[in-house]
Amino acid sequence: MNYHIEEMISEQKLEDRISELAKQINIDYAGRELHLVVILKGSVFFAAALAKRLTVPVTMDFMTVTSYGDGMVSAGEITVKKELDEEITGRNVLIVEDIIDSGRTLYYLKRLLLARHPESLRIITMLDKPECRTMEIEADYCGFEIPNRFVVGYGLDYAQKHRNLSYIGAVIQD
Ligand code: IMP
Ligand code: MG
Repeated sequence: MNYHIEEMISEQKLEDRISELAKQINIDYAGRELHLVVILKGSVFFAAALAKRLTVPVTMDFMTVTSYGDGMVSAGEITVKKELDEEITGRNVLIVEDIIDSGRTLYYLKRLLLARHPESLRIITMLDKPECRTMEIEADYCGFEIPNRFVVGYGLDYAQKHRNLSYIGAVIQD
């Protein structure tokens, strides 16, 4: 497929918004330690930009999960490809996600992590495509709601490419 990429959210807009989110999180978690659970690979740029702006004590861990469509059998509907290094029991966990589409990944991931009895569990997503939701799941913090377009950049890929773009762009078929 031939395609080009059209800028949708500039680096400046992204980082201004990430600063606002960090400010809110610093207030909400004042006096507590925050444990960021970063979902690889797409969330890496967002997580780094967010973490740099947090002033509460932060620890970070990383997880890779894949979700499958209806009909495929996998424990809890997601497969953990890379498990967390650390226990989350008793910790204030914030899941850091790149984008919520159907909501399937986060719906099952939230259940999986809640079963480990964190002190608290919240979700932050850089982008949300609410039109695409099939599972009932809400982020506690969201960067931008976007229309149903396929986007790349700031960590997000199309066939593993374009993660390194400094902005969010829509993939447009030529
Ligand atoms: P969900 O389980 O349908 O919510 O899937 C979310 C996952 O699909 C994200 O973590 C991304 O990895 C991927 N994804 C969904 N929409 C896009 C997009 O527009 N660009 C790149 N990846 C996407
Ligand atoms: Mg993802």
